Amino acid sequence: MAELTFSNLTKRFDGAPALDGINAAIGSGEFVALLGPSGCGKTTLLRLTAGFEQPDEGEIRIGGDIVAGEGRFVPPEAREIGIVFQSYALWPHKTVAGNVSYPLEVRRIPQAERKARVAEALDLTGLRDFADRMPSQLSGGQRQRVALARCLVFEPRAVLLDEPLANLDLALRASMHDVFSMFHRRTGATMLYVTHDQSEALALADRVAVMESGRIRQFAAPEVLYREPADCFVAGFVGDGAVVATRRTGHSEAGRVLLSVLGQDIWCRSSTSAPSHVSIRPEAITLSETAPLRAQVISCTYLGGRFRLVLDAEGEALVAFAPQRAAVGETVGLTIRDPWAFHDPEAESLMAGALTHA
Ligand SMILES: Nc1ncnc2c1ncn2[C@@H]1O[C@H](COP(=O)(O)OP(=O)(O)O)[C@@H](O)[C@H]1O
Ligand SMILES: [Mg+2]
Repeated sequence: MAELTFSNLTKRFDGAPALDGINAAIGSGEFVALLGPSGCGKTTLLRLTAGFEQPDEGEIRIGGDIVAGEGRFVPPEAREIGIVFQSYALWPHKTVAGNVSYPLEVRRIPQAERKARVAEALDLTGLRDFADRMPSQLSGGQRQRVALARCLVFEPRAVLLDEPLANLDLALRASMHDVFSMFHRRTGATMLYVTHDQSEALALADRVAVMESGRIRQFAAPEVLYREPADCFVAGFVGDGAVVATRRTGHSEAGRVLLSVLGQDIWCRSSTSAPSHVSIRPEAITLSETAPLRAQVISCTYLGGRFRLVLDAEGEALVAFAPQRAAVGETVGLTIRDPWAFHDPEAESLMAGALTHA
């Protein structure tokens, strides 16, 4: 398995940048998710990595070797990369075993070794009993397992997956998450997994690259994205909660700064002494009758075990969890503890972020 490195990677279609100077390094054996809204460039980054497209600028390295850039271009078949698409892309006229065996036939692996490796790949993906079936006799989840087995069988240097579960229903998707995690643990493969579904990205990946308009906004572990978003876009796109404009009222000390948030002086976690916004997650809000910050209940949704409240406080839509149902229109008091403050020079994305989850 190999590391993937992108340096100043840029791709334009008809002059418009689909990728705009991507810099990122993915470690050998790391499971990385590319997360972002439709059209942000996720598939383009995958296609460039696979060698289906050429970059306009910058370079791509696989295991230290330049595969694109500096006048070099290594074609897809020589990159030793496994690819899993949303559409499975199985050979309809070949059995499950025939599909999985195909990459080994192309590589002229002797038959005995081929059989052993196909059997191993089918075992690993729980397909042993389906070896002789045709793809048309399989469910969507089983077909996606065949696609996984087919790319694992030739021991690729990295595995690229483009929204592999988008065609499956919710329950099957959850069970396929376990299959992907197991696949990753057992193979130690370097994996680059494209999704627009944040729960999938947060659940599966060691690190998540959040993309928007052809750029990586933040590349970090899921819990860091959630607790310490870098800007308004990430704060609004990843996880629940609100993004609220703020200003400093005076003090700051190591890792903390006192800010005016919704008219209250609140100590915030921060890595900067001059933040412009705070990310207020539901966990940061405690409801109480007597708290001076007042808010009106806009909606109340049962999540199982607790209620999700959307509150209007000083014209901002906050999200809080409550053990009991609240009446729409009711006034409640709330305290905000320890929100994350950051500096975002492009503050106009504030409203889009704040309202995403309202
Ligand atoms: N072959 C192409 N020709 C022209 N424009 C393209 C092509 N492929 C992608 N684009 C454009 O590049 C941008 C990024 O697309 P894509 O990488 O498919 O986004 P995502 O996978 O995140 O939804 C979009 O604006 C899309 O319309
Ligand atoms: Mg796509």
